[in-house]
Amino acid sequence: MPSDPLSESARTSHDMAPGATVIDVAHQAARRAGAIIREGLARALQVDYKGEGANDPVTDVDRRSEAAIAETIRAHFPDHRILSEEGTTGGQDPRWRWIVDPLDGTVNYAHRLPFSCVSIGVEHDGEIVAGVVYNPLAEEFFAAEQGKPATLNGAPIHVSATSELRRALLTSAFGAWEASGRRFDRAHALGPHVQALRDLGSAALELCYVAAGRIDGMGGSTLNAWDVAAGMLIVRQAGGQVTDPYGDPFKVDDKSLVVSNGILHGAIMARLHGASEVIPPKDSTDLAKEPASPNTPPTTTTAADTAPASP
Ligand code: IPD
Ligand code: CA
Ligand code: CA
Repeated sequence: MPSDPLSESARTSHDMAPGATVIDVAHQAARRAGAIIREGLARALQVDYKGEGANDPVTDVDRRSEAAIAETIRAHFPDHRILSEEGTTGGQDPRWRWIVDPLDGTVNYAHRLPFSCVSIGVEHDGEIVAGVVYNPLAEEFFAAEQGKPATLNGAPIHVSATSELRRALLTSAFGAWEASGRRFDRAHALGPHVQALRDLGSAALELCYVAAGRIDGMGGSTLNAWDVAAGMLIVRQAGGQVTDPYGDPFKVDDKSLVVSNGILHGAIMARLHGASEVIPPKDSTDLAKEPASPNTPPTTTTAADTAPASP
């Protein structure tokens, strides 16, 4: 197994003084994970499959990234709880929870599409207080803390000023396992009324792209807390709006969300609610439907994937 190139330095010269803040530790953890993700894209990947239909890929890079993040968090905050997609846990302190997606955009990654990231949100007393999303393949580091402007590579970012739906670029992050047809119904409801509709394959980066004004809105369903914990704070601190499909403020453990620059929120909601059957009733099993738990063992395993041809 390849070694974590930053592991040694993270324990020595790059280590932080006792008393480091959660945002400092989140930065350090994301940088370590990012190095693993960047390096992994050039190597053969071990791809396993988990979840409903055994079609949800998880790679050795997801697991190594998660291990590096957890090691970094535990070194500074051994008591803090950790909720991480591949099942790693932390301490028992009920006030603190680190919500980690070690590799968001795994389908992209397994296909060598360079659009993936690591996402780390920090919750304190039920509120997300800090979040970082790092795409090491584009060297883009998004971050936010409660009460401060969201940033990209250290510079403040803001949502777009797009005010007409027909000029809006929207994305969707609808899980592949969602009830039959509903995500296509949503595309039908919105598609004819917007400039373009995309699915970029990483909910965390889509949230950050709304924050940076690159896209005007996004929607998602059957999402998990690790997909959205960091990105929802980054959007809000960049001036955007994040609600559930009924317009109530989105909470991290909700499964479905609508995100926009704020200006377009009403127009997006009107299109979604105007189409019959697009938004299921709030108590519907569709919205509550859970993907496989993070600890579900992979159900099938492939042989190691082949590395891309050398240039
Ligand atoms: C997925 C991505 C995708 C979203 C899926 C998520 P993963 O996360 O965020 O955009 O549509 O619902 O599961 O599996 O790549 O970490
Ligand atoms: Ca994810
Ligand atoms: Ca993931």
